[in-house]
Amino acid sequence: FIVDVSEGDGDLGTYPFHMLKEIDEQPVVMRRLLAAYTDENGTVNLSAELTQALAAADRLYFVAAGTSYHASLVGAALMEEYAHMPASAYLASEFGYHQPLLAGKPMFVFLTQSGETADIRQVLVKVKAQGFPTLTITNVPTSTLAREADYALNLHAGPEIAVASTKAYTAQVATTALVAKALGVAKHVQAAADWNLAHELGLIAATQQTLVDAKDTVHELAKSALATTRNAFYIGRGLDYYVALEAALKLKEISYVQAEGFAAGELKHGTIALIENGTPVIALISDPVTAAHTRANATEAAARGAHVLRIATRSLAEPGDDLVIDDLNPSLAPLALIVPCQLLAYYASLDRGYDVDRPRNLAKSVTVE
Ligand code: G6P
Repeated sequence: FIVDVSEGDGDLGTYPFHMLKEIDEQPVVMRRLLAAYTDENGTVNLSAELTQALAAADRLYFVAAGTSYHASLVGAALMEEYAHMPASAYLASEFGYHQPLLAGKPMFVFLTQSGETADIRQVLVKVKAQGFPTLTITNVPTSTLAREADYALNLHAGPEIAVASTKAYTAQVATTALVAKALGVAKHVQAAADWNLAHELGLIAATQQTLVDAKDTVHELAKSALATTRNAFYIGRGLDYYVALEAALKLKEISYVQAEGFAAGELKHGTIALIENGTPVIALISDPVTAAHTRANATEAAARGAHVLRIATRSLAEPGDDLVIDDLNPSLAPLALIVPCQLLAYYASLDRGYDVDRPRNLAKSVTVE
């Protein structure tokens, strides 16, 4: 059977809001990326020039803003795991004025949905002037940052209209995974050679589909925990922590609930003072190494009155968990875990009667520093 992976035109169709449509599009974006970047053997095809430039670097700096920064945190982890390439993620607005000491042969990766973010452009201009190679990964191949970088890759997410970014985030995580695989193979890293990423991304598309089909369940969770709250916490460790940061940003952006993403182990070092009766704490549990610890942190919060929601992958799930996600490679867990978090934010906003697609004070593309 044939899956239509054309990018569409951003029409709302029968959807009430672009954000819901874009959340739903995530499985097809995964398949579109597979079609764009892999062949029938699962080989990732990047240009030889780009692969060589990446392999010639001894460190990758991801520089981004907002949601794209959260995707960069995951992207950097994937580079280290599968390409054995030291990598770190920086906020563009910080990097521009507080540049870390650059030694050796760094390469810069700019993750940006719009390709127009001014904070990123000023970094691009500065590091190009220092002679370092640059790659922009963007949803808009004709954008300023795509044109001005040495190399550019397309996210193939199709037009993203809602101000709160959803499908661009998962496209960014998947694309950085594809780059990590290609780079790791080029560097003869065994972990990359053994990684059947194309197969895994196909499974993730199916998992994302089951999650977007579970809207009613997530809506009920949003009603139970987020209907009237003024604040909320997302907790996780490792990649689950990075998802917690993005989940909290989604909720803040469109529902105006003050939300924070926390490294679960840090909760007790201060923030737990904020937990009151009914404070929502959403625990993200997909990492086998730390699942028990995150659960313990969630239990500590519950003991202080928190309304705890637990979202876990199947083999780590326990009776009473609020949402169970198919098992998947923990290194790619953000691709699935973020979906119910996006839906939680969507329904929290919808049920409060806000304009989901056009939140106050925010712009889709920020072209001032
Ligand atoms: C704006 C948007 C955010 C986005 C950020 C980075 O603040 O409201 O949703 O994450 O810019 O945008 P970019 O286009 O560079 O990914």
